[in-house]
Amino acid sequence: MKRRPEPAELMDGVEQAQAYAAADFNASNTLFMELLRRLVRGPLTGALALDLGCGPADIVIRLLRAYPSITCDALDGSRPMLDLAQQALNALPDLAARARLLHDVIPSAQLPRQHYDLVLSNSLLHHLPDPAVLWQTVRETAKPGAPVLIMDLMRPASAGWVEALVETYAGRESEMLRRDFRHSLYAAFEPAEVSAQLAAAGLDSLEVAVVSDRHLAVMGYLPA
Ligand SMILES: C[S@@+](CC[C@H](N)C(=O)[O-])C[C@H]1O[C@@H](n2cnc3c(N)ncnc32)[C@H](O)[C@@H]1O
Repeated sequence: MKRRPEPAELMDGVEQAQAYAAADFNASNTLFMELLRRLVRGPLTGALALDLGCGPADIVIRLLRAYPSITCDALDGSRPMLDLAQQALNALPDLAARARLLHDVIPSAQLPRQHYDLVLSNSLLHHLPDPAVLWQTVRETAKPGAPVLIMDLMRPASAGWVEALVETYAGRESEMLRRDFRHSLYAAFEPAEVSAQLAAAGLDSLEVAVVSDRHLAVMGYLPA
């Protein structure tokens, strides 16, 4: 099935951001953290992480809880998403001190650090009209030898499969969320497309894996 890009790259509607933040992403965010634990053995002592397209910061919060000595820069181009991220962090002052929210867009973002010890992203890739900007940003922001974990939705093979996934995973969500999920599935990439993107970006050391019925993940280490 042909890819259909997202109608809007940034999720910068207040209502849209609120609906997203209120939705239940526990299963996929738990999977993300499980993949990170499998990729990175050890406590990542003193590491500085970068989360690209952090949205309401649920993964940032899980990361800071799981790795008590790391700090995280979390970037998103949507002001309403970052307001929700700030609210979530304000409720957790111990963690908030280790997070820095950055309102900017890739690939042009001016980041406070040149290189990060760990680069992460969940559900950003399919939002990008040109996916190469994510891989360029990974290359530019991750330290040599740094672990990288990028998870995203995977485009289904047919419109019927899209509807089955929307019904299964968003059947009880609002109409706005079901619509956004449907758009995201159509905008997502197939694993072979992501492998080709990585090869074109010179990121062959990263592997693409199918990690659920609707997710793929790009995992590995940059060359040292
Ligand atoms: C589906 S949300 C994912 C949020 C979060 N990572 C999560 O897992 O819940 C995608 C986010 O990427 C942001 N985004 C899209 N394009 C971007 C860009 N070029 N630069 C920075 N953020 C971007 C959107 O505003 C949105 O908040």
